[in-house]
Amino acid sequence: MNMIDVISKKKQRQDLSEQEITYVINEFVKDKVPDYQMAALLMAIYFNGMSAAETAMLTMAMAHSGKVVDLSPLAGIKVDKHSTGGVADTTTLILAPLVAAAGVPVAKMSGRGLGFTGGTIDKLESIPGFRVNLSEQEFIDNLKRLNIALTGQTPSIAPADGKLYTLRDVTATVDSIPLIASSIMSKKIASGADKILLDVKTGQGAFMKDITQAIELATLMVDIGHKVGRETLAVITNMDQPLGMAIGNSLEVAEAIEVLRGNGPQNLREICLQLGSHMLVMGQVAPDFQTGYKILEHILDSGKALAKFQNFITAQGGADIINNQGVLPQASILCDIYCQQEGYIQHIDPAGLGLAAMKLGAGREFKGQAIDLSAGIVIYHKVGDQVFKGQKLLTMFSNDESKINNVKENIVLNFSIVSNISQVVKPQLIMGIVDQTGFKPFS
Ligand code: URA
Ligand code: CA
Repeated sequence: MNMIDVISKKKQRQDLSEQEITYVINEFVKDKVPDYQMAALLMAIYFNGMSAAETAMLTMAMAHSGKVVDLSPLAGIKVDKHSTGGVADTTTLILAPLVAAAGVPVAKMSGRGLGFTGGTIDKLESIPGFRVNLSEQEFIDNLKRLNIALTGQTPSIAPADGKLYTLRDVTATVDSIPLIASSIMSKKIASGADKILLDVKTGQGAFMKDITQAIELATLMVDIGHKVGRETLAVITNMDQPLGMAIGNSLEVAEAIEVLRGNGPQNLREICLQLGSHMLVMGQVAPDFQTGYKILEHILDSGKALAKFQNFITAQGGADIINNQGVLPQASILCDIYCQQEGYIQHIDPAGLGLAAMKLGAGREFKGQAIDLSAGIVIYHKVGDQVFKGQKLLTMFSNDESKINNVKENIVLNFSIVSNISQVVKPQLIMGIVDQTGFKPFS
């Protein structure tokens, strides 16, 4: 077999065979396929797509490119949640301790942010002392003892995805449905969860800009999961405005603590309760969604989820941030931006704000770049809110005055304000679910 033939075949819109796909992945992981040939194949896949069968074969080849973790010796049904990526998605920080406190074991592998999207690992690293790289034994011990353990991506699990993702990122081939589906599902299958809950984001702050694409991606991933015996459910959620009010690493940790205290932004609380309720049903801790929802509301409002969060942080070496939030990195420069006109907020561009937060130091422009964990943005309004001239719209946080000055001028352009409320359509937070029987819109 040779790589040129495989590239040509995909260039001519033909389906690749299982042997061809396995050959490409295995040779690529062994560094026997150079990046330029793999980049050409990725671009051919980007333009010509893959059938559902090809995508499933690619997923399995990637899942088996490294170690496949066996969590079966651990008690309980392990349910893993994965988001397709978005701006200021603080969900995992809240959801993981919340469902762990309810009795669902959470064994989670998370990533770092890149470009305008954030990553859970970066957020947790803003907690002094917190260790994101646990040994396998520590991971299992913590999981047994606390029902929750979280680690960064390791090179031994789905290494094909690590290499492919880096290459996709610099060849403009990230936003391809078969490539996203195989990337996510290969990691989930290799990291050993029994069941998988997917948060498929759609809208301006997500890779899938419209709901039709999001449903297609969700359906593909749900089918792949079921083919390999892992019950998979996808919730389609909206990212047409930032989730919560905070964008940036330590700012989002602080925001998560607020939600875990029973306060915090309503849309962030709601998405965690909804995703968590599905996890409780999948983990057979609740008989149905409504019961799950009630259980989680109680756990959140009683402080049990907050206590679980701190226990989890302490177990991974982190400081006591519940009683002493001041230990989180604080920016030395704060800059408020005020509303220039009166009216109603019609739109807040999440990708634009994500990019601005990145420029303030919260994210990386290239891989491996050091980030400012205290940098970011806090907004004070959501779509539909009435605002007045001179009212505070947002605060920028950074340690670098030149970065603030650079972002300051255009940041208001991420908000559109109209004079009449009738011109405002509030985005729906949860669009629906995709299970084996198809898409069910949420009304
Ligand atoms: N998240 C992933 O893990 N992979 C993708 O390709 C996109 C989002
Ligand atoms: Ca947020």
